[in-house]
Amino acid sequence: MTKPRILQIGSLTGHPPADAELAARYDVLQYWKASDPQAFLREHADSIEVVATSANIGCKAEVIQSLPKLKAICSWGVGYDSIDVEAAQSRNILVSNTPDVLNDCVADLAWGLLIASARNIGWGDRFVRANHWENKVGSLTLGTRVSGKKLGIVGLGRIGEAIARRGLGFDMEVGYHNRRARSDVSYNYFASLVELANWSDFLVIATVGGASTRGLINETVLRALGPKGILVNIARGTVIDEPAMVRVLTEGALGGAGLDVFDKEPKVPDALKTMNNVVLMPHVASATHETRRAMTDCLLENLESFFAKGQVLTPID
Ligand code: 8YV
Repeated sequence: MTKPRILQIGSLTGHPPADAELAARYDVLQYWKASDPQAFLREHADSIEVVATSANIGCKAEVIQSLPKLKAICSWGVGYDSIDVEAAQSRNILVSNTPDVLNDCVADLAWGLLIASARNIGWGDRFVRANHWENKVGSLTLGTRVSGKKLGIVGLGRIGEAIARRGLGFDMEVGYHNRRARSDVSYNYFASLVELANWSDFLVIATVGGASTRGLINETVLRALGPKGILVNIARGTVIDEPAMVRVLTEGALGGAGLDVFDKEPKVPDALKTMNNVVLMPHVASATHETRRAMTDCLLENLESFFAKGQVLTPID
C-alpha cells in the first residue's frame, strides 16, 4: 500500500524518534532539506494536502499560499504563534496542536524556575562546582521564602491552572490576570496587570504568544513587581519587553527571574548570563521523555484521523 504524503517543515529534534515514526507511516517530503525551498514547493504543490510541523518551526503564510491543495496543518507543541493561522483559516485549512499533554511538565518547570531563582539553586550549584565553598571563597546571599507567598499568574489557561494548583501545595494565595474573570475558579482576579504585579511576590507568565501579547509585560509591570519580586516565564519570550527586563534587573528594580523562553531564541541577552538572581533554561519546559512521547503520539493521532476521516482530533482553539 502506498503511504499518504505529508510535507514536514522541520526536523522534530526535540523528540528523537519522531522523524522516523513519521517516515514509517508517511511518504515524508522533508522541506528543511530542500536546497531551493521555493522550487521544491512548486514541484510538489499538487500532491500536498497535509503539513506536519512544530510549535517552534511553525508554518509561514508563503508556504500555505504555495500549496493550493493544502487541507490540514498538524503541529507538534501547544503554541501556534509561529503558524500563520489567519492564512490557514481563510482557506478553511484545519490546524491542530498538542494541547493538555504538556500541562504538567510545563507547570513543573515553571515551579523549578521559581524555586531555583528564589533559593539561588543555579548560583549555589555553580558555587560548589567552582570549589568556592570548599575554598571559602565568598558566599551566596540569602534566598527568598517561597511557601506562603503570593503567586500571580498571567494567563490562567490550562497550563496556568496547573501552575496555580501547585501553588496551593505551597500554601500560597493565588491571583491571576486574564482578559476576563473566570467564573469556575476562586482565585483572586485582577483586571489590571499592573495591580496583579504589585500584589504578587512571584509573577508567572503562562499566556499565549503572538501579536496579541507582544510586550504585555512592560517596564511598568516589571517595576510594579518590584525589587523583591520574581518573574517566571514559560510562555513565549515575546510576551516580555526583554530590554526593559534586562534594564530593571540591572538596576535591582526587579528581584530575579526564571526564564525558559526568550524573544530571539536561541539568542539570550548577555547581561542576563552574568546575573546570579536569574536562572536560564533553553526552552525545555515540555522536554521530558513522557511528555515528548505524548506530544508525538498526539501529532500522529491527528495525522491518522485526518487521513481516515478528514478531521483532526485536537484543533487549535
Ligand atoms: C516545545 C512549546 O518545546 O508546545 C509549545 O508551544 O513551546 C514547547 O512545548 C516546542 O516549542 C515544540 O516545538
